[in-house]
Amino acid sequence: MLVSGSGSNLQALLDACADPAYGAQVVAVGADRDGIAGLERAEAAGVPTFVHKVKEYPARADWDRALTASVAQYKPDLVVSAGFLKLVGEDFLESFGDRYINTHNALLPAFPGIHGPRDALEYGVKVAGATLFFVDGGVDTGPIIAQVVVPVLDDDTEEALTERIKDVERRQLVEWVGRLVREGWTITGRKVRLK
Ligand code: GRF
Repeated sequence: MLVSGSGSNLQALLDACADPAYGAQVVAVGADRDGIAGLERAEAAGVPTFVHKVKEYPARADWDRALTASVAQYKPDLVVSAGFLKLVGEDFLESFGDRYINTHNALLPAFPGIHGPRDALEYGVKVAGATLFFVDGGVDTGPIIAQVVVPVLDDDTEEALTERIKDVERRQLVEWVGRLVREGWTITGRKVRLK
């Protein structure tokens, strides 16, 4: 699992994995920075961690290769990005492109990028939500696995909407990571189906 921040999605997965019937385990947590709650959550759960900072590498491609190598070491069935604030490069996508998923806090294809709830609020939409998708070479453009909707309220602030989305986003992530790992999946064009 890859994180850059608070790691509340990671925590939801760690909690779900405590039940053997869930069928998945978080084998490692990687980050692009230190000192984040996400890494502390992993350590508290006894999950190995690694950090690769872009600025520690001469070129972005070197960082990407290092990240790819660290993830590959754990032979994951699925790589989950949740709040990981970096776009991976070609090496990473070649290795994990068919099993690298990300959760985004907007209803794609609307409001890609890092300010999903803010952009949705400013646009005046009446529903918002979260999208789980397979990552491709674009920004929040890959095949969609699942989406969940919440209302936008008249007096919403960015913070209130962000939290309302995160609550359902975590549950969606837990449900679908479990289903993908237990049942397997196919991707045909843009269509994702469970086996
Ligand atoms: C999620 O809402 C994700 O969609 C967004 O950042 C948040 C990550 O939260 N890009 P956390 O670090 O899992 O708490």
